[in-house]
Amino acid sequence: MILIGLKNIFARQLPNMPKEYIVRLLMDRKHKSVMVLRNNEVEGGIPLVVGGITYRPYHRQRFGEIAFCAISADEQVKGYGTRLMNHLKEHARDVDGLTHFLTYADNNAVGYFVKQSFTKEIYLEKDVWHGYIKDYDGVLLMECRIDPKLKYTNLASMISQQRQAIDEMIRELSNCQNVYQVAEFQKKEGGSSKNIRVEDIPGLRDAGWTSDQWGHTRYKLFSGSGDSVTKQKQLNALIRGLLKTMQDHTDAWPFIEPVDSVDVPDYYKIIKDPIDLKTIGKSVESEQYYVTLDMFVADARRMFNNCRTYNSPDTVYYRCATKLQAHFFSKVQAALQSGAKPQ
Ligand code: COA
Repeated sequence: MILIGLKNIFARQLPNMPKEYIVRLLMDRKHKSVMVLRNNEVEGGIPLVVGGITYRPYHRQRFGEIAFCAISADEQVKGYGTRLMNHLKEHARDVDGLTHFLTYADNNAVGYFVKQSFTKEIYLEKDVWHGYIKDYDGVLLMECRIDPKLKYTNLASMISQQRQAIDEMIRELSNCQNVYQVAEFQKKEGGSSKNIRVEDIPGLRDAGWTSDQWGHTRYKLFSGSGDSVTKQKQLNALIRGLLKTMQDHTDAWPFIEPVDSVDVPDYYKIIKDPIDLKTIGKSVESEQYYVTLDMFVADARRMFNNCRTYNSPDTVYYRCATKLQAHFFSKVQAALQSGAKPQ
């Protein structure tokens, strides 16, 4: 009776399979079926069938052929298919003594089987399976090797134990589990408008920061010694020069001012993090905002990327972005070569 319930699911979910063929294999004693049953939903003494897999174990060859596999339509993509496959693998290994599964998967099912560790490459020797299973046209033969030890039905708790063990090791080696509340710190320091010293930011020192890392950058700009004030001045001069070469360029006109939302009403709906040469200029003027060359380069790069996101490649704006960017990066490169090298 339960097998009839499973037959109905196969018949509905595998419409290309003749029903007589399904019944023949399902009722055949050489085939076995693994099922998901809902014991709390019983009809006429029979539990409701949610889905199942029918397979034929070839004991001597130590592989099994999956003939049908389906979950009822309203229960798919809830994890039942995976559970079913895990139970099947454990049963086939521990009870039937199998080491592999083979199955013919149609296009729709290949994705599911790949997620269950089936491969399109067949590693089993051909003479192990050839002649035992039928050839079909238009479907793909897939193979799965059953792990000899893995507790397939216990994967979730095994993975969570492994994750916990790794977490514990990470905690021993690092302090990344310490989370500092920036909002509370700002309240204590009297609001965000007050200037906050870098070294007072909670957790920074715990994370290994030292004051000589101020303005740490992947571009090593200025060789030789010099205090942080001198270095910041040199950086400001460099950035000022780079900004000017952009402002003076013939393709800079689309970037001089922020985009006007009256002229371009949807611009700020699409570009969530806008930037332009005027805004960059204000940050340069503050002399405190760009503490690394990377920050300045990142702003310029964002400006070019925003332009190419909003405008299509055949527009003059898009072309301006690409030309100005090439010019800008050639100047950055030149600056790095004359005394400043990437670290
Ligand atoms: N194609 C690609 N991926 C699929 C898929 C499909 N047809 N069906 C399920 N998946 C994915 C799921 O998204 C899920 O991915 P995730 O782990 O990243 O979330 C994973 O496979 C497992 O899903 P799960 O919920 O365990 O599977 P299921 O209960 O839906 O059962 C089938 C999968 C294939 C048995 C079921 O969808 C079904 O009965 N399909 C119709 C019959 C069929 O094609 N059978 C196979 C040939 S015999």
